[in-house]
Parts: sequence; C-alpha cells; structure tokens
Amino acid sequence: MQAKKPEGTEDLFGARMRAWERMQAVARETFSRYCFSAIETPAMEQVDVFVHGIGTSTDVVRKEMFRVFSGANFANVLEKGSEAGLKPGKRLALRPEGTAGFVRAAVENTFVPQGGAPVKMWYAGPMFRGERVQKGRLRQFHQIGAEVLGASDPALDAEVIVMLMDFYRALGLDMSRVRLLVNSMGDPACRPAYRGKIRRFILDHADEMCDECAVRADTNPLRAFDCKNDRCREVMAAAPKIADELCDECADHYARVKAYLDEAGVAYEEDPTLVRGLDYYTRTVFEVQVTSGMGSQSAIGGGGRYDGLMELEGGKPTPGIGFAVGFERIMLALEDQGVDLAGPEPSCVYVACAAPECRDAVFSACLALRRAGVRVEADYQGRSLKSQFKQADKHNARLCVVIGPDELAAGAVTVRDMASHEQEQVPMDGLVEAVRNLV
Ligand code: HAM
Repeated sequence: MQAKKPEGTEDLFGARMRAWERMQAVARETFSRYCFSAIETPAMEQVDVFVHGIGTSTDVVRKEMFRVFSGANFANVLEKGSEAGLKPGKRLALRPEGTAGFVRAAVENTFVPQGGAPVKMWYAGPMFRGERVQKGRLRQFHQIGAEVLGASDPALDAEVIVMLMDFYRALGLDMSRVRLLVNSMGDPACRPAYRGKIRRFILDHADEMCDECAVRADTNPLRAFDCKNDRCREVMAAAPKIADELCDECADHYARVKAYLDEAGVAYEEDPTLVRGLDYYTRTVFEVQVTSGMGSQSAIGGGGRYDGLMELEGGKPTPGIGFAVGFERIMLALEDQGVDLAGPEPSCVYVACAAPECRDAVFSACLALRRAGVRVEADYQGRSLKSQFKQADKHNARLCVVIGPDELAAGAVTVRDMASHEQEQVPMDGLVEAVRNLV
C-alpha cells in the first residue's frame, strides 16, 4: 500500500518551503523593529488549555480539535469508551491556534511578573483544526502570530495593528486589495447586557433563523453574527450594535485606538458585526481580508485584545493583545496578485568532475569552498561533463568549477562563468579567492 498524506495537509518543499521560510524571515525583520522576540510552544497542549481559553461553545473547541493519545492512554480510552478515565494532564490535543498555548507558557514561566514590563513575542508553526477542507481551509495549516502581555494602553492596540499591516506590505501584498476591519467587543462590564439583548433579539426572530442559531441564543449569542446561513446574516444585520452598548471605558479605549490608527495613516473599516470565532476577546478585535480572488476564505489574519485570558489559564489578571496570520491564505492572495514570495533557488557554485580520477580533487575543492562559506553543488553519479553543465544550470549555478585530467596535471582548476561562458584557469590553491572575487 502506498500511504497518502491526510486530507487537508500538505508536504512543504521546494518553492513553497522557500516561501514559508521567507515569510518567517519577513516576520522576524518586521516584528523585531517593534522589539518582539521569538517563542516556540509545543504543538500539543492539555485539552483544558484550549477549553478554558478558547471557550466551550466555540466551533474550534466543540467540533474541530484533534485529540492526541499515546498508546497506553488510547487503550484506556477505547476500554472506557471516553477520555473521562484519564487524568487532565493526559488529555491532550493538537493546538488549533497559538494564543492559548502562549498564555499557558506565560503563566508557567512567569513572563510578566507583578508590575513587570510587558512581554512581546511572536511564533510561527503548524496549527490543526478538523474543518471541512476547501481552498484556503486546511486541517494542518501554518500561522505566524504575535502576542503582547502586560499592557492595556490603546496605543499598543494600534501599534500591533500597524505592525500587522507593515508585515503584509513587506511581503509584497497590494494593500489597495486588502481591507482592515475593526470593532470593539466590550468587556465584562458592558458585554453581558449586550449578549442578553442579542439573545432576546435571536429568540424574537427564531422562526426566521436556523436551528443552530436558536441554540446559540443560549450558548454564545454573538456567534449568530458569523452564521454561515445567509438568511441568519440578513436578520442579524438589524440586531443591536455593540458600538451603541459599550461602557464609557470601552468606548473611550475604542475611540483612542481609532485615533492612533488615523494618526498612523492606516485605513480601516468599522464592522460592528465582527465578533471573531474565539471566546477570549475583549475590547478591540480586528480582521484583515483580501477583497478579490480568494472566494469565501478571504481572511488572511485576525486578532484582538484578550484581557481576561491570563486568568482563564490560571494566571494573575494581565491584559493581552495579539494576532495571527495564515500562511496558506496569504500565499493564495500573493499568487493571485502575481507576487513570487519564494523567489528563485539561491545560486551556487557547481564543481564538475571531468574524469573519474579527478573525483578526489573535486571532493577537496567542494570542501574548501564550503568551509569558506560558498554554496556548492557537485555530481555524485558519474555523469558526462555536458550533463553536469545541465545540472549546474538547474541548480542556478553562477560559476562552474571544472576539474579534469589537464587541470589535475597543472595543479589548477577551470572556473567558468555560467552566464557569459567565459572561463579561466586558476591554481587549485587560489580557487577560494578566485570564486570569492567572481560571485
Ligand atoms: P483565527 O482568526 O482563528 O485567529 O486564525 C488566524 C488566521 O489563521 C486566519 O485569519 C486564517 O488566515 C488562518 N486560518 C485559520 N484557520 C485556517 C484553516 N483551517 N486553514 C487555513 N488557514 C486558516 C487565531 O487563531 C487567533 N489565535 C489570533 C490571535 C492571536 N488573537 C489574538 N492573538
């Protein structure tokens, strides 16, 4: 049997791998200007990290988490018919997103001691959601995310959004085809009353809305704004707007975030129906969409403030804010706009072996060049010289170093420029210097 990759996953190699590496390099360059440092957290966490953080009523937790059991634990689950017999520490899931695990790490490693300075960190890696697979929606996808813990200053909300837009621009996205949506979701002071209003609104319109929204009225009424059913969305367009229900503190925070965005010259659209799919958000939320060529999966990133999440993960009250972007979605947008993020394979020097008795000299030349920091490729299959030149072209070689019996006898090598086809002989011990002068 020839095994196939699981549905909704991808093998990353070649140009696509170069694009993923390039995207991470752009993130590192951009985010380091804002003094973010990198972090890597485990790809699996205790289920409770996600249940507490993301919320029990979200689709991500209810329907999309991949559970992980080691052999012995799996036998236990099979025997008992559920994971109830496992200690919480043995109930594991692949991370569906990065924020909950990051906050777990911040609590466990005391990133923000009481009164300490804010911590700014970014990450890149695979995330896992058992979603219905379609273009731009995978089961293993890659996110780059950035998070800040320890400050509630609205200037920080604006800076995080400005940094996100800087990142898209640096990737080469056409910013006239990108739109930034912002909203405020209120806080524990004003949201409960708003949730109550939305609940009543849904119940009043229950006969026009889907069964799932009827359930949402009690579990998570704001999610009705995101219902996939067009009729529900039409009905919800007339629902009360959070902007009219914010408490004074949240309204002031939101106004200041927008004022800072104005000052930074970052264009945004206010979307009072933007609620996001994860429960931890408070106050500022935002999403970035591409306006053409992406079908229904147009969101290339999103985030917001999560001032209550540290406590939900067992830490001291600590405000937080962040975002994540999807690699695969951004690639669809870049491809649609004709931007080649991967670029060509980096050039190299090819060392060609013109006769079997030159093999050892080729080995030594490769060794010397690589030790001098040059990217070098050679032949390992005894190919003809003509075929080695073809290989050199394939590998995008700038120079080809040829070693044949004549060169060997003269203690020299021939260095050939692959573009101009000019070539010269240089002494074997002058090879590194000659190559350095030419590349
Ligand atoms: P999210 O909106 O669920 O937020 O995901 C962020 C981005 O990941 C999306 O905008 C999209 O580009 C990409 N994405 C999500 N699901 C998929 C999928 N199944 N296939 C391909 N791409 C996908 C979060 O994950 C939050 N943790 C963001 C955040 C960080 N909020 C605060 N800090």
